[in-house]
Amino acid sequence: MLGRDSRLEVDLGFIKLKNPVIAASGTFGYGDEVAEFVSPSFLGGFVTKGLSIKPKQGNPPPRTCETACGMLNSIGLENIGIERFLKEKLPKIKAYNTAIIVNIFGESISEYATAASMLKGVAEISAIEINISCPNVKKGGMLFGTDPKLSFQITKAVLKESDKPVIVKLTPNVTDITVIAKSVEEAGAYAISLINTITGMAVDIERRKPVLGNMIGGLSGPAIKPVALYMTYRVVNSVSIPVIGGGGIMDYKDALEFLIVGAKAVQVGTANLVNPKACINIVEGLNQYCTEKGIERLQNIVGSLRTE
Ligand SMILES: Cc1cc2nc3c(=O)[nH]c(=O)nc-3n(C[C@H](O)[C@H](O)[C@H](O)COP(=O)(O)O)c2cc1C
Repeated sequence: MLGRDSRLEVDLGFIKLKNPVIAASGTFGYGDEVAEFVSPSFLGGFVTKGLSIKPKQGNPPPRTCETACGMLNSIGLENIGIERFLKEKLPKIKAYNTAIIVNIFGESISEYATAASMLKGVAEISAIEINISCPNVKKGGMLFGTDPKLSFQITKAVLKESDKPVIVKLTPNVTDITVIAKSVEEAGAYAISLINTITGMAVDIERRKPVLGNMIGGLSGPAIKPVALYMTYRVVNSVSIPVIGGGGIMDYKDALEFLIVGAKAVQVGTANLVNPKACINIVEGLNQYCTEKGIERLQNIVGSLRTE
């Protein structure tokens, strides 16, 4: 059985995590659905499915398809809305001994701010993650995250309405991700998480139609890991706030690559859909790695990449 191992502890400054493994938004539900397979208490934290002020239906099906070494999704941020989350889900998940990070989004700056204000005073929530990076919605999402000015404004507006640490989740669908990273840091973000999915599409050659009901979707899984790792490396070297890296992490070795380039913690997404125990296996793997290499604190390897 997996016990608590102080070697894996992470101090992000605004929260302490028991280990660096965080389940990524949209791949771990609201935390209660997965509890049958895996106790969230073993994780450093988990991020809820993206939540908006009002419930949202999402995009028409099909919403997912497999690709070489990954998948496309166009869920379109379907969710039950913040009110129902607080009433129905939070009472079930608050007992978990792990950091609960609530992912929010909106279609305008004021919607993001209102969403953040609805979470004010809820002590069980460790941090808010703002999604300015979803490629599957027509309004908001990635439109904000590709513009440094809007990214700045949205971060500021959320911070003003929130009493929680704010993590900003960046999109890889930009020319230079460090520009956006610097602008959200300047606005006061506590941390940056990256990457969200990479925009993509697939075609059904028999019907000559897009495979996804929404036509375009977001690519995730092992196919995006090299891109995610490169972007994490670049962002780590351009800001001084903590960076949470991820994209394509399937096992503890992948997680270590992100830590070595400088991420303080990692987010694991698609791997949870392949194996609900993926995050736990990664925690176990990191534990074993520390034992094998005689590492007293895993955080000592953060940013230890040798470039000469
Ligand atoms: C089915 C699915 C749903 C997702 N939903 C959200 C979401 O609601 N909010 C968000 O910020 N990211 C969402 N993501 C993006 C993931 O959190 C993660 O950033 C991305 O998939 C890259 O990591 P991975 O390759 O480990 O999956 C979703 C990803 C998938 C595959």
